[in-house]
Amino acid sequence: MTAPLLKVDHLTVGFPSKAGVVGAVTDVSFEIHPGEVLAVVGESGSGKSVTALAVMRLHSKSTHISGSVMFNDTDLLALPEDQMRAIRGRDIAMIFQDPMTALNPVFTVGMQIVEAILLHHHDMTKQKAWERAVELLDMVGVPEPRRRAAQYPHEFSGGMRQRAMIAMAISNDPKLLIADEPTTALDVTVQAQVMEVLHEVKRATGSAIMLITHDLGLVAGSADRVQVMYASRLFETGSIDEIFYESRNPYTRALLDSIPDLEGTKDELHPIPGNPPSLLRPPAGCPFRPRCSMAIELCREQTPALIQIANSHASRCHRADELAVLAAGAPA
Ligand SMILES: Nc1ncnc2c1ncn2[C@@H]1O[C@H](COP(=O)(O)OP(=O)(O)OP(=O)(O)O)[C@@H](O)[C@H]1O
Ligand code: SF4
Ligand SMILES: [Mg+2]
Repeated sequence: MTAPLLKVDHLTVGFPSKAGVVGAVTDVSFEIHPGEVLAVVGESGSGKSVTALAVMRLHSKSTHISGSVMFNDTDLLALPEDQMRAIRGRDIAMIFQDPMTALNPVFTVGMQIVEAILLHHHDMTKQKAWERAVELLDMVGVPEPRRRAAQYPHEFSGGMRQRAMIAMAISNDPKLLIADEPTTALDVTVQAQVMEVLHEVKRATGSAIMLITHDLGLVAGSADRVQVMYASRLFETGSIDEIFYESRNPYTRALLDSIPDLEGTKDELHPIPGNPPSLLRPPAGCPFRPRCSMAIELCREQTPALIQIANSHASRCHRADELAVLAAGAPA
């Protein structure tokens, strides 16, 4: 296998508050290889965005952060800000959930893409950058890209704005594209189109993609690997098949049970009961215990470790071995 493009080791992120430190990311380690699509999935508040923002080094000064984030051979967490600025937007780019907050309402869409290009290509003329912006809008499926480039963000529909954001993000051919809930604000048909655009971007540019979503259903056709987060920790990580058909984790299984199946034939959906625990004062033992139908006494006493099951498959659960038997039979 090729060397990883991104290697995150023991990343831990905490936000100090009057009441104590909110542990938003706890001891998270993972890799993304060149050209790979890694999906990061989990309920709201599980630490997905904070993990991505730490990779981009977009946390505030007061944030407690430890571990390492190696991008190729560079530890991003140790990099001076000016060098990080050169990497951000060029080698690693990010697409946010709500393009309206990321696009500036007073500049045309084309001009904003031009600015993004010129930031990292000081020698390029504005005219050339404009042509490139039109080309990029065309590539992400914006119809009449030349006319549309001269329009303002409010003249774009939600789906078109997200395409414009993707065009801006890929304007400097990033090696890694981080897409944080890129389709959450869109209706289902437009969601599928935007996912298609991301596919096309991957095919055309060879960028690796970190796709963050709370929707496991979205990742089945899009990702190479999935990593499931719960209450600031990695709970399971594996290939699409390992996660969808051989999951060894009750939380992942509960997530799978809560989404419509791919064929839309599932009779009943089962939302996960209860809420994730406080990250300010996490309970002892397994953080999923109060909501877990398989919990035993040990789960109250000891936090399970993330255990390797197969080459690409790992799970955090005291009962992961027993789930192997279940995986061989009917889905839980
Ligand atoms: N700047 C901050 N200060 C304090 N707490 C924060 C800050 N940013 C995030 N958090 C907390 O850290 C935890 C993880 O947040 P994060 O945004 O990563 O969740 P998420 O998995 O992306 O959820 P969502 O699906 O809702 O986007 C949450 O409990 C959140 O409230
Ligand atoms: S360790 Fe226990 S509580 Fe946690 S997921 Fe496994 S069985 Fe459930
Ligand atoms: Mg988020």
